[in-house]
Amino acid sequence: MRNVVNDYFDVAVGIVRKAGRFITQYGSGCEEFEVKSCDIDFVTKVDKMVENFIIHSISKQYPSHKFIGEESVAGGAKVDLTDDPTWVIDPVDGTMNFVHGFPFSCISLALLISKEPVLGIIYNPLMDKLYSAKEGQGACLNGEPIHTSKVKELRHALVAFETGTSRDEEKVKVVFENFKTMVGQAHGIRALGSAALNMAMVAEGRADANFEFGIHIWDIAAGCLIVKEAGGVCIDPSGGPINLLSRRMLCAGRAELANELSKKLTQYYPDHD
Ligand code: IPD
Repeated sequence: MRNVVNDYFDVAVGIVRKAGRFITQYGSGCEEFEVKSCDIDFVTKVDKMVENFIIHSISKQYPSHKFIGEESVAGGAKVDLTDDPTWVIDPVDGTMNFVHGFPFSCISLALLISKEPVLGIIYNPLMDKLYSAKEGQGACLNGEPIHTSKVKELRHALVAFETGTSRDEEKVKVVFENFKTMVGQAHGIRALGSAALNMAMVAEGRADANFEFGIHIWDIAAGCLIVKEAGGVCIDPSGGPINLLSRRMLCAGRAELANELSKKLTQYYPDHD
């Protein structure tokens, strides 16, 4: 299995690096976009180009593999997660950043086998940072090993979280409640505008924890493996095991910190993917 995953990984890294060129062409912003679920949820032609390129390139190599892609789902495809090898794609995570030219956007790509991530890649081509992990083989940034931080207490932790891409009243209320809790209790708070890059910061030990309600499997599948392989934990925000389809995620460099956070967060339960 290890050798097969290594082969898949090498192919995927080559494809993701090539796909990154679509993004760097619009490094200072992309004025044209369409709205999706609401007026702060966007898709650009680059999101579609990157996703099509990745699906086409991987299908040529592995015709039997399946895909779950953010823009394919936005276009009406079902999220159909089976035990078959399935590539989960967010072609531009941080589309709001991408539209504005704020340089924190990335491609997030994971391969799931039997519903578990076996490889994950998060690539910010604007900064040429490629975070990656293979199951049981550790996590890397541009090929060099990375590790999560050792911070165990919220009062010492830099915590990343997002407002998300929904204006749903109940969701926004929970965001504000958690904002208040974090401002009062965490060492510091940050929001990069990309769920995958927030997770990459935890994997690299530059942030200590990250949580979000309302994210999708394509935002977190690669990040979960990368955080775990870097030494961290990825759980449901209420404290149980993570379900990649539940649209709820909490990760941290240390289990103690994740547990403390899970007890302090106001919970939100969106519909599953
Ligand atoms: C979004 C970003 C954002 C997060 C949202 C995601 P997209 O992904 O990661 O930071 O708050 O939950 O949906 O739409 O830019 O691919």
